[in-house]
Order: sequence, then structure tokens, then C-alpha cells
Amino acid sequence: MTIQGELRERVKQAILGLGVELPEGFCPEVSISADLRFGDYQSNVAMLLKKHLGKNPREIATDLVAGLELGALATADIAGPGFINFRVSNEAWTEKVGRLIQDDRLGVPVADVEHKIVLDFSAPNVAKPMHVGHIRSTIIGDSLSRIASFLGHDVVTDNHIGDWGTQFGMIIYGWKHLLDEVALAERPLQELLRIYREVNGMCSADESVKESCKGELVKLQGGDAENAAIWEKCVEVSKVGLNVIYDRLDVGFDHWHGESFYNARLGSLVESLVAEGHARESGGAICVFSDHKVEPKQDPFMEKRDDEWSDLPMIVRKADGAFNYATTDVATVDYRMEEWGAEKIWYVVDARQALHFRQLFDIVRRRGCSAELEHVTFGTILGKDGKPLKTRDGDLPQLGDVLDDAIAASRAVIESKSDHLSDGEKDELAVTIGIGSVKFTELSHNRNSDYVFDLDKMVALQGDTAPYLQNSFVRCKAIFRKLDEEVDFGGVRVQVLEEKEVSLSRMLARYGEILPHVLDDLRPNILANYLLELARTFHSFYEACPVLKSEGDTRMTRLVLCELTSRVLEHGLSLLGIRTPERM
Ligand code: ARG
Repeated sequence: MTIQGELRERVKQAILGLGVELPEGFCPEVSISADLRFGDYQSNVAMLLKKHLGKNPREIATDLVAGLELGALATADIAGPGFINFRVSNEAWTEKVGRLIQDDRLGVPVADVEHKIVLDFSAPNVAKPMHVGHIRSTIIGDSLSRIASFLGHDVVTDNHIGDWGTQFGMIIYGWKHLLDEVALAERPLQELLRIYREVNGMCSADESVKESCKGELVKLQGGDAENAAIWEKCVEVSKVGLNVIYDRLDVGFDHWHGESFYNARLGSLVESLVAEGHARESGGAICVFSDHKVEPKQDPFMEKRDDEWSDLPMIVRKADGAFNYATTDVATVDYRMEEWGAEKIWYVVDARQALHFRQLFDIVRRRGCSAELEHVTFGTILGKDGKPLKTRDGDLPQLGDVLDDAIAASRAVIESKSDHLSDGEKDELAVTIGIGSVKFTELSHNRNSDYVFDLDKMVALQGDTAPYLQNSFVRCKAIFRKLDEEVDFGGVRVQVLEEKEVSLSRMLARYGEILPHVLDDLRPNILANYLLELARTFHSFYEACPVLKSEGDTRMTRLVLCELTSRVLEHGLSLLGIRTPERM
């Protein structure tokens, strides 16, 4: 159990000792103190019991502290209007560190209840290379999947690629008229993008091209064999191209059920939506309207136009008979419930799709879907000018190019700092740092804020960066390389005494306390920022406490603290999808 968990348990016993009847599953709040001067943990439970007991909180706190059986774990005192502050004893830190070094899970508890979670992330539209905007969904989604799995959940990852839709009218037209076979073989996604862009331009200039594209789309939707074959080929080469990027990012999926996967289900889905009274005809289209269960202000099916509330329906079949993104997403929820028994579905998708997901969640709720659905939103990546990141030509930078740039930037840093490495080692290290930097920058920001993509800052060895953490890991490891023999950590004796040892122990113990909180609001930045704090604490410990020059229990204790720091850094970074190099 974590120290926080133990304190909770003891506070709970003390409350019961006051004769208070607690609701089942009640867990008194014991939080990590923001300010160490007040101790390591703090509880406001006395304030919460005020009404219940009809006494003032300070009195309640006094009674609780008198009844608390803390043993050697911690001391408690009362502050302010009735806060109970806990200071953990050196014995307890010693005991904790001794347990952590024997624990494969590094003190991280498995979730009480295991959930089946479907994670929908990345999901680019095919026939186009991924661009910088795909960083956020791909990296946040991947990290959430790693963290949720480690916490004991059953996670299914699904890449819901946009492999069906109006863009295929243009692509098929371009394929038939503009395709360069050689270029397609060499750089397939670039070639598809080129023909798409060219046809797009032609459409704006020439109405007849636009009509022809529409014609190609109708043929594809009607099952025309030639167009179906072109479409299939496009999807195939796109997947190959996407996988090149996913491999570079160490990202994988259990499934790639793209939009087209659901085509055969859409007709009967819309029929049942109508039959069940959830959708109706309007202007030739089939639409879902508000059920007026909530205030118009909260209602995703209402919008204010000219000062009046008007309907904002979700179209599930267009007047021309075509189904759309929304229809597919309803079918996708059904599939995930039926086939996978999803209890939670997390959609890591740009905040600009908020309305779509609010409508989707409302519709499936009306149809009795019991899963907990969450739109995991994120903001925009900005250039140094504070505007959405663009290339010189005004396009979104391609993700592959962004990764190349990050690797080149980290190669330049290594060049000057890592003279002891061979060129091959430097190249490999540049990839580990470059990719790690892109990921860490993403994951250390609150996902809903925009952030500036500043390569020089991202790859710097100092600052809130991946290389700072990677380097901290390498430094921990280097300590052990200086020893003649392997250290055997089985059954070691530790004794945490000095202030800096205590600080580092406290940070190490915190890993198991903070990690589960990542899933409260689906925020990997909680983990990223914890790792930065751990690394800083380690460096200040290392400055104050000689390790190799110390002796006996002190030396072993410090070696254990270094070893644990390296393990937690390596493990935490791996949960962010970031690799740790052996040398830097
Ligand atoms: N392909 C979509 C886009 O690029 C994202 C899909 C997200 N997932 C979903 N189930 N709607 O905007």
C-alpha cells in the first residue's frame, strides 16, 4: 500500500472510533501537502465532519488525532481551522524504500476495478501524410494506453482512420488522370497528396472537374469495381506510409477499424434509429433532433440563431442517401460495445470536434449505451509566432519532416557534448532524444493548452525536456558503472536519515501515489511533471550526498536511492513512450 493509502486507512479507523457511521466505500481525503513546512500529507476531514458531528472542526481534529493510531508511521498535528498535518517518520521512509527496491511495480497499485477501455486515437484521414496536428492525438493516446494498461485495465487500441469519404472522389479522379506511377512507387503518400492537391485546385477552377469527381464518388459508393480497386490500393499504400511513422514513434494499435469497416452496418443502423423514434426525416435527410431533456443552453442539438433557439440536428443520412462521419461513429460505438464489451471509450480528438462528440454521446445514451464515453480534447501546436504551426508555404508541416528536424536538432546538441561516443552511437542517440523530445514536449503540457513548438528548447539538456530526464537516468546508471562489482539489492539494509535522502525517498514513494491520478482527468502531464520533479530532487540529493565515497549502510542506502531513481525514471518515461539511452 502507498503511505498515502495507509494514512487514509488510519484516519478512517479514527473516524469510526468517534462513533461516526461512514457510507460504504468512504475514503477520507488525505492529500499530498503542497508545502513541506506543513508536513508530507494533509487531511481536511475534520472540516467535512463538522455538520455531521455538530462540533467545530478544531475540536473534531483534536479528537481524531487523539484516536489516531499512527505507530511509527508518522506524527500528526493540527493547523488552522482544523487541518490535520502528517509528517512521515524516517523509519517509515526507510521501510518504504526497502519495500520499493523489491517491488517490480515500483509501488504502483493495480486499480481496484479493472475496466475494459477502448482507446480511439491518432485516426488520420488516409491518402494524406500525417501532419504536425497528428502529434497530439497519437502521442497522448499512446501514453494513456500504456498507463491504463499498467494500472491493470484491459485496453483495446483502435485506429479509426478516415478511409472513406468525399475526398475519394477527387483522389480517384486524380488517380485516373494525373497519377505518376514511378512517384507512387517511391513516395506513395506524397504522390497521393500531390494529386489530391492538384485536383482540388482544378475543382475550384473548373466546375466540370468537380462534377466528374462527384461522379467518381457516386460510382465508388455504388460498388463500381474499378473505383473500388483504386480506393483499396490508396488505403493500402496509405497504411504502409502511416506505419512508417508509427514505427518511428513506437506506436501500435490492436485494430485498424477505419470508417469503411462500418459501411455495411450503416443502412440498417439508420433504419433502426428511425424505427426506435430517435431519428426522423427532415428535408429529405434523416436527422436526430433534441429530446429536450436538458436546457437549450446545455443541449448539443440546439443553437442560438438571431436570438432564438433553433434545432441543430445531427444528420445520419444525407438527402442524397449517403451516410457520414456521424453515422459511422454511432455504428462504431455499437460495434465496440457488442464485440469488445467496452465499459469506457476514450476519443483522443481535437477540441474542434467537441460538438460532434457531444451529439454522438447524447444519441448513444438515448439508445441505452451504458459505456462511459469521453472526448479527450487537446489544443493546437503553435509556431514561434504564436500562430498555428505552418511551413513556409503555409501548409501544415508533415509529421515525418517534424521528426527529422527534431532528430537533426538533437544530433547538433550531441555533437558538441558527447565526444566520447562514436558517430553511429551519436546517430542512434539523436533518434532517442529527438523523438523523445517531441513526445515529452507534448506530454508535459496540459493537453488543453496550446503550446509553442520550439525545437531548440525541446532538445536542450537543461530545462523541462526529455534529454534532461534521459540524462538524469544516464547519470544514475553511471554511478553503478564505476563500481567493480554488481550490487545485489536482494535483502539489502537501508536507513534513510539525512534531509536529502528523505526528500528523494519522498519523491520515489510518490510515484505510486500520483500515477493513478493520470486517469482522473486523462492527463499524462501529471506523470511528465512528476518525473521532472523527481530528477530535480535526485540532482540535489546527489550534490549533497556522496554515494561512492560513503560507507556501510549509508552507502547502500544511497545506492538503493540511485537505483530506484533510475528505475522510476526509466519506467515513467516508458509509460510516456520515451526511451532511455544507456549513455549520453
Ligand atoms: N479521422 C478523424 C479526423 O481526422 C478523426 C477520427 C476520430 N475518431 C472518431 N471515432 N471519430 O478528424
